[in-house]
Amino acid sequence: MNQYVTGAAIKELREKSKMTQLQLAERLGVSDKTVSKWETGKGYPDITLLEPIAQAFKISITELISGNTVHNANVSANMLRSKFYVCPVCGNVVHSMGEAAIHCHGILLTPLDAEQTDECHMVFIERVEDEYYVRLDHSMTKEHYISFMAAASPGDMQLVKLYPEGNAEARFRMRGVRRIFFYCNRDGLFVIDPIKGIDDKESG
Ligand SMILES: [Fe+2]
Repeated sequence: MNQYVTGAAIKELREKSKMTQLQLAERLGVSDKTVSKWETGKGYPDITLLEPIAQAFKISITELISGNTVHNANVSANMLRSKFYVCPVCGNVVHSMGEAAIHCHGILLTPLDAEQTDECHMVFIERVEDEYYVRLDHSMTKEHYISFMAAASPGDMQLVKLYPEGNAEARFRMRGVRRIFFYCNRDGLFVIDPIKGIDDKESG
C-alpha cells in the first residue's frame, strides 16, 4: 500500500506532463539531481513540496499520494456510475459519485465490481404503488448476510442498510431507478436492472 508519493508516480506524472526533470526541478526550486533521486527511490520529496508538486501536475494532493489520478471530472458524475467501497474490517460502506482514494482501518479500499445476480443471490422485485419492493432469499446470519441495498437513478441514490437477523428486503421510490445494487458480505456486490428483475419473476 502506498503511504506517500512514490518515485515511480512522480516519474509517470512528469512524463505525462511532458516535463523534463530539470523543468520540474526549476518549478519546485530544487535541483534536477534531487528530482532524479526521488524517481529512483533514493529519497522522498519533503512534505512542504507536496502541494507544489501536485500543482505542477495539475492534480490534487490526494491523487498524488494515492497514485491514482482521477480522469473523470466528478462534476459530471452520473449516479449510475457510482462506486461502492466496503471496509473488510468494519463493514463501513462508502458511496462515491466518482473515483476516490478511500482508506478505512488503514486499508486502501478498491471500488467494488458489481456482478450480475446468480442463483444463490436471486432478487424478487415487485411494484407496490410508486415503490419497488425488493427481496432476496438469502441467509441473514452474522457470518453471511446482505449488508446493504441501493437503488440508483441518474440523479439520485437510495441506500438502505441491512442487518443480520433482519430481513433481506427494502423499498425504494421507483421514479427513475435503473439499477438495484446489493452487497453480500461473503460474495460481494451484485447489480440488477429492476425491469429485468420483474420480468424474471413473472416468467419464473
Ligand atoms: Fe451470499
